[in-house]
Parts: sequence; structure tokens; C-alpha cells
Amino acid sequence: ALERTISIIKPDAVAKNVVGQIYARFENAGLKVVAAKMKHLSRREAEGFYAVHRERPFFNALVEFMISGPVMIQVLEGENAVAKNRELMGATNPKEAAAGTIRADFAQSIDANAVHGSDSLENAAIETAYFFAATELCPR
Ligand code: CMP
Repeated sequence: ALERTISIIKPDAVAKNVVGQIYARFENAGLKVVAAKMKHLSRREAEGFYAVHRERPFFNALVEFMISGPVMIQVLEGENAVAKNRELMGATNPKEAAAGTIRADFAQSIDANAVHGSDSLENAAIETAYFFAATELCPR
């Protein structure tokens, strides 16, 4: 089915100047960018975005990392966009990510792992609403 998902290019990948290379992977897989913004998240914004992880031991490190520099946030649209984006990203831990995936090619560690992608259609809708007004989406 035609779906939308959220992708965040994290501070490590923005700092490495590989936003374009990551966008090319989305485009080559048939995913379209229908909204995008670069943003340096506040602590409050990062904590709110990752609220489901609040009780996890890595929460503070995750928030610190996500506010360490600007991120590039985009809504991707395409057939099975949620799963397709997760396939392109590879495993959360880059050491376990399959060859040719974004995390295998651009990520350093489980914290600095280059990209975030929604893990379900339901969370994709929640995460999209967190960063974008409905009027900022450009279906095409
Ligand atoms: P992300 O998809 O952005 O969602 C939560 C993030 O927490 C995850 O990617 C990782 O970058 C980070 N993280 C750090 N340690 C862990 C862990 N042990 N398990 C899952 N995620 C972790």
C-alpha cells in the first residue's frame, strides 16, 4: 500500500555531509520526499520525540546526541514506505547492519547511527505530526 514514513538524518550524518547520498538511496528505492526540514532540536523536542524510550538506559545519551547538531527531517512516501525505509537503513547497530545499507555505510555506533525511521505505520503518523503541520506535506 502507499504509505508515508518519517526519516531523520541524525547529527553524525549531517556533519559528515552525506545528506545528498542518503536522499539518493531513498530516490533510487522509489521513495519520494514529500516534506523536509533541517532543524537543530532543543532538548525538549528531542525528549518529546523519543518519549517512548524515556525509561531506557540509553535515553540520556540518545537525547544528548540528537541535540549535538542539526538534523534533516523528511517525510517519505511510496509503496510500503515504512518497511522499505527500514530495509534501506539496516539494523539499529551498524555493526549488525547488512552490507550496502545506510547504517553499514555511514554510521559509527549504535548511538551515532546516521538515521532514524518510523518502526510502524502508526508511529509514522505520530512522528510526522510531531514535526510537520498537515499543510507542510506535498503529496505528489
Ligand atoms: P532510533 O531508530 O533513532 O531509535 C532510538 C535510538 O536509540 C536508536 O535509533 C539508537 O540510535 C539509540 N540506541 C542506543 N542504544 C540502543 C539500544 N541498546 N537499543 C536500541 N536503540 C539504542
